[in-house]
Amino acid sequence: MKVLVIGQGGREHALVWKLKQSPLVNEVYCAPGNAGTALDGINVDISATDTDRLLKFAQKEQIGLTVVGPEVPLVNGLVDIFEAAGLKVFGPSKKAAQLEGSKAFAKEIMRKANVPTAEAKVFYNVDDALHFIDEREEIALVVKADGLASGKGVTVCGNRHSATRAIKECFVDQVFGEAGQTVLIEEMVYGQEVSILAIVDGQTIIPLETSQDHKAAYDDDQGPNTGGMGAYSPAPLVTPELMDVIIDKILVPTVHTLRRDGIKFRGILYAGLMITAQGPKVLEFNVRFGDPEAQPLLMRLKSDLATVLLAAAEGKLAELPPLEWTAEPAVCVVMAAEGYPGTYRKGLPIRGFAEAAALPNVKVFHAGTTQHGDQIVTDGGRVLGVTALGESIPDAKRRAYEAVKCIRWDGAWCRKDISDKARKQLKEPADE
Ligand code: AMP
Ligand code: GLY
Repeated sequence: MKVLVIGQGGREHALVWKLKQSPLVNEVYCAPGNAGTALDGINVDISATDTDRLLKFAQKEQIGLTVVGPEVPLVNGLVDIFEAAGLKVFGPSKKAAQLEGSKAFAKEIMRKANVPTAEAKVFYNVDDALHFIDEREEIALVVKADGLASGKGVTVCGNRHSATRAIKECFVDQVFGEAGQTVLIEEMVYGQEVSILAIVDGQTIIPLETSQDHKAAYDDDQGPNTGGMGAYSPAPLVTPELMDVIIDKILVPTVHTLRRDGIKFRGILYAGLMITAQGPKVLEFNVRFGDPEAQPLLMRLKSDLATVLLAAAEGKLAELPPLEWTAEPAVCVVMAAEGYPGTYRKGLPIRGFAEAAALPNVKVFHAGTTQHGDQIVTDGGRVLGVTALGESIPDAKRRAYEAVKCIRWDGAWCRKDISDKARKQLKEPADE
């Protein structure tokens, strides 16, 4: 079978790498891909949002399974168009993708499903939103643009001034365009964050191993939000008992409420949770693998990914044996370009891939890279996801950072504390 992965980040490189190992798969294409996907598969020069050309390519090459990485093509309805053409595709339909594409829609589903989440109110104009802020005593609030904003549409506000500014950024300055013309104002909830991802075929829900990303740019969770500066799996905070609560109170009611509304959810259901003193509460839903959570997760997955994703696309997850995972934890450290998450340069030569690849249990997933002649150069803000398996989380961390040290380009940097949260959650003594 030929497989097509859509997207160009670290998540897509991890998908290509894992799918290529499948006995079912003889070729993996990636559109548009990066320098890493070109090493493990074949790049196709078509943008992830050019649905017409992607469809023509998939038909011409007789692609047996298409796997959609990022949210934008899902929210645009790529899956509906591929399915209508008789192609098998892993990912939710346009309607189901609204769970990520509209935070107001997600809140409405959670309300119907009785899923625990932060209280929120939806606003459609600046006056009503500002009036609401003025009337409130409690000013620790979170302001969220309703639509897709590349992970930048959420502002955690400690005071009235920052909430007012965030509201005006959405409605008046329109920094998120149409996505910010509807705004949610949400109560702040407190606790530890964790991501739970599940593979869903409309009916059957298979939770994946736990993982946690690091959204803030700098150590100790300081600085601006990013797409994710690193991730680890498993997240020790999630005990089997807590996982049962998350499945019963969050995943199952969400999928079943969507189905009662005539919306079949197929693909990855990603619940971003805060584990509060009252139990888990949903902060957001995504409808795809997390980036960089996919990198450590897929390194730990022993089962054949192509079999699993094909079964999900065909509605046959119930027929599969349980997923198998290596017990070894994995840690992924994102190496970023100088200036990220603000502006940064591209085209800087990267060295040291061979030294990093020579280390055991290490895989360097590419994100923002491209090939210039025989040189791999930077091509994005998040450039690489250096991922390692280890005997424990500290061991995986040590191995990942050892590989990071091999790799160099002008201005390369990373957080130094990826996975330390896991140790704090476990209250383990530091290993160094
Ligand atoms: P989201 O994109 O909704 O996950 O929000 C991005 C980040 O903002 C989350 O990872 C949290 O750290 C924070 N956040 C979002 N909603 C809340 C909330 N209601 N209370 C506290 N923090 C939040
Ligand atoms: N790492 C967070 C996300 O993929 O949305």
